[in-house]
Amino acid sequence: MSDRYLNFVNSGVGGWVAGALGLPRPAPLQRRAEAGAGIVGPCLLGGSGDGPMAAVLAGLMEASGHGLHAEWSPDARYGALVFDASDCARVQAAKGLYGFFHQAVRSVAEHGRIVVIGTPPELMADAEGEAVQRGLEGVVRSLAKEVRRNIGVHMLYVAPGAEAAAESTLAFLLSPRSAYVSGQSIRVAAPVETGEPGAGHTGRKVLVTGASRGIGEAITCLFASEGAQVTALDVAATADGLCALSEELGVDSLALDITASDAAATLLADARKRGGYDVVIHNAGITRDRTVARMEPAEWDSVMAVNLSAPLAITQTLIEGGGMRRNGRIVAVSSLSGVAGNMGQTNYALSKAAWIGAVRRLASQSASSGLTVNAVAPGFIETRMTAAIPFAIREAGRRMNSMGQGGSPVDVAETIAWLAHPASGGVNGQVVRVCGQSLLGA
Ligand SMILES: NC(=O)c1ccc[n+]([C@@H]2O[C@H](COP(=O)([O-])OP(=O)(O)OC[C@H]3O[C@@H](n4cnc5c(N)ncnc54)[C@H](O)[C@@H]3O)[C@@H](O)[C@H]2O)c1
Repeated sequence: MSDRYLNFVNSGVGGWVAGALGLPRPAPLQRRAEAGAGIVGPCLLGGSGDGPMAAVLAGLMEASGHGLHAEWSPDARYGALVFDASDCARVQAAKGLYGFFHQAVRSVAEHGRIVVIGTPPELMADAEGEAVQRGLEGVVRSLAKEVRRNIGVHMLYVAPGAEAAAESTLAFLLSPRSAYVSGQSIRVAAPVETGEPGAGHTGRKVLVTGASRGIGEAITCLFASEGAQVTALDVAATADGLCALSEELGVDSLALDITASDAAATLLADARKRGGYDVVIHNAGITRDRTVARMEPAEWDSVMAVNLSAPLAITQTLIEGGGMRRNGRIVAVSSLSGVAGNMGQTNYALSKAAWIGAVRRLASQSASSGLTVNAVAPGFIETRMTAAIPFAIREAGRRMNSMGQGGSPVDVAETIAWLAHPASGGVNGQVVRVCGQSLLGA
């Protein structure tokens, strides 16, 4: 669905009207389609510039033909600011962030990126160290609200020894692929399996549920465009959409209701036929919104069945039945409603918040095989699901975030593609919001 306000204020007349009336003027995001998939630059690096992450950053910048600078220049425009605070253990030392950002924050280009690198707080030697490292998240979330101009700001906690494994995450955060992700705190630990540095999704066996339209269609398109062998699953009623996708992208289609009693067994058989899935994306989902006092039992049950019971059962069956290959990836599509709750969504919010618990447990249970289990929590994404929301609530959902607009299905797909990447094995059991730093549940 198109965002008429965004289009209007970015037109000649609309821009003038908005300026005269003092209305907010969100600018269109620059995604891969507009700005390519590579990382932004040049980069200004502050903090402990000779730490192990500096070498990873230098490699990324060099590979992209961007400069990496240690000295701020008042005349320069930077695509990225990175502050390495990983050795910051004292309140006094944290003032280094103030000095760096006080000087440099106005030098970040529109659509640029800011990343603060830290050490997982619980690994610090004492309470002050843990407090300061945890406190960095406050800096990041506040900066993300201050800078606006479509600049994404992130906290990246890297465990000692996991620096090389953090490359795929740093590359994602510093690229247009993360256009609608901001204010997130992401952890990277040493992975069980190290993916090939240059490996991508080519040839990987990927299952996408709810694939015929909306976010599922965008996920299918993105993985297919990166050379993955995708199985696009949806209910039989969507056969036309599935057929069109299959013809256009050359993906395999599978008409299956994931709540059918034999769905998990059918998928395990399909996985075995293919030598196992590398990636499973639980995207299929439904809403049956009504306040709890008015909700019918069937509305509660159907949401639980599609959003939670079925994908949980499929996950268990695939893991226990050998349906996932080594270094596999499972990504569930949760929701901001699961993080913050939402009026009329007790059923939906339970099913989506449940995935926050599920990924934590599944991640720790399956880590020895290199399998990672993560979730994305989209905020307001422009799809049929959100087009059905009443106008006033829809407008509030769209604007109440640091980007001043709704996201696109491709923003969710890009985030899933990063989590599912063979080199992202250090990211496990996490929930990453794709919400333009929504004010809800922040
Ligand atoms: N659009 C948003 O703003 C938003 C925000 C947060 C989370 N989400 C989540 O993202 C996912 C995709 O949402 P969307 O907006 O693209 O929705 P959508 O309604 O456009 O697509 C959902 C797809 O799931 C399929 N599906 C439903 N029940 C199924 C079943 N039993 N078996 C197989 N497939 C089934 C549908 O046929 C449909 O193709 C959902 O899990 C949704 O909860 C969406």
